Amino acid sequence: MAVSLTIIAFITAYLIYTSLSVKTRHLERGYYVGGETILLPLPYVMSEMSVEESILNRKSIREWSSEAIGINQLSIILWCTYGVTEKIGDWYRRSVPSAGATYPLEIYVVIGERSVRVNETTYIDAGVYHYNPLTHSLNLVKRGDFRNDLYEAALKQEWVGKAPVSIVIFAVYERTTGRYGERGVRYVHLEAGHAGQNIYLCSTALGLGTVAIGAFHDSMVAEVVSAKAGEQPLYIFPIGVPAKPYSSSFDNVHRIIIENRR
Ligand SMILES: Cc1cc2nc3c(=O)[nH]c(=O)nc-3n(C[C@H](O)[C@H](O)[C@H](O)COP(=O)(O)O)c2cc1C
Repeated sequence: MAVSLTIIAFITAYLIYTSLSVKTRHLERGYYVGGETILLPLPYVMSEMSVEESILNRKSIREWSSEAIGINQLSIILWCTYGVTEKIGDWYRRSVPSAGATYPLEIYVVIGERSVRVNETTYIDAGVYHYNPLTHSLNLVKRGDFRNDLYEAALKQEWVGKAPVSIVIFAVYERTTGRYGERGVRYVHLEAGHAGQNIYLCSTALGLGTVAIGAFHDSMVAEVVSAKAGEQPLYIFPIGVPAKPYSSSFDNVHRIIIENRR
């Protein structure tokens, strides 16, 4: 009896120890997978591509390989989308300009099953997540693979259903129209464009691809991510590894320009 109690106590202690040490290890490396909040790896310079090359090679990608993307790649793309860059008094500058620094955008991420790799054997749980720029973390909204629902909402555009990850940009117009009236609507749309271009350029620099999606049913997209009242969907950006790598060259660009000068 005493021997079996000792064995049970030993096994329990071992299980608690291993689960704690796994969590600690993940936290030390900047993230914790499997909980309600994922602390993303801290952002750093990941690519060697210049801004000019990224603009040169940017194009809309609609065919993906079956590969997952890496958590470091998702981390830096989200930071480029709407991450913090500087603290100024009681506000934080972001990766995009914002009329009156009102920051009306909210960023959701739809992640598929085995779509975002943490290491060789671990993936982020499939689900809908909300991005918190201040802590550079993802908060779980709901678990499950909702890519097919997003595909249905986006008028059955295949590239939405098949991409491992989609970033969905929402706006809370009131934050900007509260200060600028009707003109604030224009400002919100311009800001979403800035964020969207950052997604394109960052994805391109990492060897990933994306496409701006504006054609969808607003209410269905809001339902897919369980958006809060007042949040309106503006853009979907499916992201994945391009099926066919693409690159252009400045020789091409020069040829076009010189031809048009004739
Ligand atoms: C506001 C906006 C909405 C768009 N909506 C869609 C869309 O719903 N589906 C799609 O496949 N592409 C969409 N696109 C991508 C355009 O088709 C694409 O940018 C255009 O054909 C030029 O190609 P490029 O991006 O490769 O240069 C959209 C682009 C913008 C700017």
